[in-house]
Amino acid sequence: MSSQIQSPIKRITVPDIRARKGGEPIVVLTAYDAPTAALMDAHCDILLVGDSVGMAVHGLTSTVGVTLEMMILHGQAVMRGAKRALVVIDMPFGSYEAGLETAYANAVRVLKETGAQAVKVESGPTAPATIDYLVKRGVPVMGHVGLLPQSINIDGSFKAKGREEGERARILQSARDTADAGAFAVVIEGVAEGLAREITEAIDKPTIGIGASAACDGQVLVSSDMLGLFDWTPKFVRKYADLRGVIDQAVATYADDVRARRFPAEVETYFSKKPVST
Ligand code: KIV
Repeated sequence: MSSQIQSPIKRITVPDIRARKGGEPIVVLTAYDAPTAALMDAHCDILLVGDSVGMAVHGLTSTVGVTLEMMILHGQAVMRGAKRALVVIDMPFGSYEAGLETAYANAVRVLKETGAQAVKVESGPTAPATIDYLVKRGVPVMGHVGLLPQSINIDGSFKAKGREEGERARILQSARDTADAGAFAVVIEGVAEGLAREITEAIDKPTIGIGASAACDGQVLVSSDMLGLFDWTPKFVRKYADLRGVIDQAVATYADDVRARRFPAEVETYFSKKPVST
């Protein structure tokens, strides 16, 4: 069960985000742990506990292996760090496609056990019925159209979508169905600007783009990508930091210090004459 206590900081709500359609761009990052979520909280409107956690944190090659338990564990950690941002948790592959009641039971577990305010589902063909069922029963849902990472075993690769007219029309229809079913916002992933603009103009819910141009109501990035934790980033990512370089340098210096007996120094030793710095 969630152990949330009342915070004096007012948390951004689902209606707050819904009301941002066409307004100030919505800032979203993925978050997976408490300390990082606490740092991101002041700057982001939404923290998404994405199932990208499987790849970003657990070293999986896709999101297919991510479980409900993993999402709940990371969701609880993010909720401990974030006091202001709306927290949305991805429903992992296999947790919402088998039937409406299973989807509801799993979504309720996510909300009850983490204290987060909403879930996200990838909008495959069965998603609109699921979204409608969940929303009517009090579970706010964010949709996700375009490139659907959970469909990797159908698609064969994580390639951008909407090259052909037929596929563009299907994605636009999926976005309309997702919004009409009651999703409060829709992630658009991996499509060209024209389609992102068409979707954003066609639906009355905020669109959040990832690799989907500036023609969206907000943007989301996988935090590990924008912080530079990996040696490879997709075309649409801007690296705002080089944490890989920072960590490599820090660990190398630590290893050198240990091997040369420069660490720990007297100041870093209990009951030494020099005071321990805090
Ligand atoms: O899991 C995730 O990080 C996501 C984003 C790509 C939107 O779904």
